[in-house]
Amino acid sequence: MAPSYVIVIGMKIRKWISIPLCFLLLFLSACASAGEQAAGQGEEETWNAPDEDYLAKLSQQDQDKEGPREETKRVGVAMPTKTSERWINDGMNIKAKLETLGYEVDLQYADDDIDLQVSQIESMIRNGVNCLVIASIDSTRLTEVLSQARDNGIAVIAYDRLLMDTDAVSYYATFDNKAVGTLIGGYIEDKLDLKKASAEGRSYTIEFFMGSPDDNNAVFLYNGVMEVLKPYLKDKTLICRSGLTSFEDTCILRWSEDTAEQMCTQLLNEYYPTGDLDIACSAFDGFAYGILKAWQKKGFSMEDHPLITGQDAEKPAIKNIAEGKMDMTIYKDTRVLASKCVTMVQALLENGEPEINDTTQYHNNVLTVPSYLCEPVVIDGDNYEEILIGGGYYTKEQLFQ
Ligand code: BGC
Repeated sequence: MAPSYVIVIGMKIRKWISIPLCFLLLFLSACASAGEQAAGQGEEETWNAPDEDYLAKLSQQDQDKEGPREETKRVGVAMPTKTSERWINDGMNIKAKLETLGYEVDLQYADDDIDLQVSQIESMIRNGVNCLVIASIDSTRLTEVLSQARDNGIAVIAYDRLLMDTDAVSYYATFDNKAVGTLIGGYIEDKLDLKKASAEGRSYTIEFFMGSPDDNNAVFLYNGVMEVLKPYLKDKTLICRSGLTSFEDTCILRWSEDTAEQMCTQLLNEYYPTGDLDIACSAFDGFAYGILKAWQKKGFSMEDHPLITGQDAEKPAIKNIAEGKMDMTIYKDTRVLASKCVTMVQALLENGEPEINDTTQYHNNVLTVPSYLCEPVVIDGDNYEEILIGGGYYTKEQLFQ
């Protein structure tokens, strides 16, 4: 539709022309006027300056042509805890990436307190977020609040940890959790050359420190570890004196460092009083710190510490590795995870295309959630500088200040 001020200018010019040529153009002018009236456009014959509001609206329309200027969309990001460094990095990365894209972000940490996480999510829903990104504490305890989100038309993305027992989850961004386990198991196998040990009839002692029973990732990791190590337990190349090898017997609630320390102290007291534990197969850097504390408190030499594994490539873990106190960890680049998660947010809020590379593995007891599995990487004394410092994940100063 032609803006009205253009029509008014046209009429003004026509009015000026019509004076000297009045007789000749009278007929034509009348026809034009009749035509305009027929089109419903000839209401005004006076010059009016275009009003400010109208110009503002036009300029807004011009800006709109450059890109949509809708109301800012809001994303609620619920993280489990700040006690472990990785979640701090995850939160920062997601927030930064979403804000760069123009989203408003409400980032909350729940101190590993399930009720607090539920109330944080409830308040995000009340505040009208458009999308929720959730790394749960207990993956089965959010079903009610997730139903609320669904009923309010709010899309949900499970971040790192799968949300169980609900249909109110659209996508899952995580690392290949089983691969984390096979990498840990594979590291132990290679480092101690278990194949050769098995052939030669030699054996190593081992104890397991597995993840939280309320975290689906922990079971995947355990299965990965056992896929590699079970044959060696069977043929007694690996000897677990405590006999605690099942997931149920070795899982540690809420990934607690303190519980890992207590568990390790108990195992050392009971089964390894002389410090002859060869391998502490730990599923988390935090457990490794607890194991090291237990070892030191027993007065055992650091020279003879067991092979200790971990997960997350936290700064203290890398420092331990560099100092030879711990052997390996699993690096999960939270920048990559955040990017994949952001493609899912965009898919849900802007009809974009999410990046998905797995549609079979992650069934949450209600549905198989379309997932993106990022690749975990083994870090040890030989490669931490190249991968972590070279890759810009940490600076040397951050690690060794
Ligand atoms: C994550 C791990 C992390 C653990 C403890 C798991 O869900 O996948 O990366 O080590 O939680 O925070």
